[in-house]
Amino acid sequence: MFTETEQKKEFIPVDFRNKIIQGDCEDILKAIPDNSIDLIFTSPPYADQRSATYGGIKPDKYVAWFMPKTDEFFRVLKPTGSFVLNIKERVVDGERHTYVLELILAMRKKGWRWTEEYMWHKKNSHPGKWPNRFRDNWERLIHFTKQKNFNMYQDEVMVPVGDWAQSRLKNLSETDKKRDNSRVGSGFGKNISNWVDRDMVYPSNVLHMATECYNQQHSAVFPVALPEWFLRLFTQPGDIVLDPFNGSGTTCVAADRLGRDYLGIDISQDYCELAINRLQNELNTKKGNNKHEAT
Ligand SMILES: C[S@@+](CC[C@H](N)C(=O)[O-])C[C@H]1O[C@@H](n2cnc3c(N)ncnc32)[C@H](O)[C@@H]1O
Repeated sequence: MFTETEQKKEFIPVDFRNKIIQGDCEDILKAIPDNSIDLIFTSPPYADQRSATYGGIKPDKYVAWFMPKTDEFFRVLKPTGSFVLNIKERVVDGERHTYVLELILAMRKKGWRWTEEYMWHKKNSHPGKWPNRFRDNWERLIHFTKQKNFNMYQDEVMVPVGDWAQSRLKNLSETDKKRDNSRVGSGFGKNISNWVDRDMVYPSNVLHMATECYNQQHSAVFPVALPEWFLRLFTQPGDIVLDPFNGSGTTCVAADRLGRDYLGIDISQDYCELAINRLQNELNTKKGNNKHEAT
């Protein structure tokens, strides 16, 4: 007899649970069974950027490079799972390249649903001056799913209602007190008075988080808080999270902290070692904390 969690674990060969594996994700994923991953959270190499550290892909070739990988992601993701892609189009010859938009269109043709787009506002970006734009202060987190109904645990990311309650909710108009249907005929409506006297509300799709550079050893690390937020939203303890472009292992660290299982894949042996060391440090910290609790 298996417990529910043990049954879940049967989906994935044990060799792939809580592992960092070196290789091209497209090849490594071939060994993973269909419909076995709960969440894919990743930040791939951005077109042509950081070519000095891990090889850039030319913007015009980006979609052709990425699509075969998304076929594997689609195959291994559970029908109820989510794929969150952290990406931003780079500037080529003074204008934004369209490879991210082209990628979204190509993925939709292959069956992916472009369910939502979140924005990561980088709170601590440094000032600068550019001739035709301002400093780049945000990145996309594109949420793809395989079907309309997917696992989403919205209560896990609720936020304090904040100042809004003092201003907006204290001065409700007559419209605010009843359901206000959309004037553009979208079928959606809102009843703001439903939120009076509540301490916690659902967040927006803009995440305000500072960048972090883990020990300066990887050039493109996102903060642990970023995958943590999405892991809480789209997974439960015991679920398995995949980062196919794992880098220094930030997604895996978040998974480990939240009691999810992880699989991290990176083409670079050095980055795999960095991620393994980082996870080992997490383990040591946990052991240290347990010792303190026990004494
Ligand atoms: C933007 S970085 C990821 C950084 C990561 N989010 C972190 O917090 O450290 C992209 C990573 O993709 C890896 N990579 C590039 N091509 C790959 C491939 N075909 N398969 C697996 N990893 C790949 C690079 O070595 C690099 O570490």
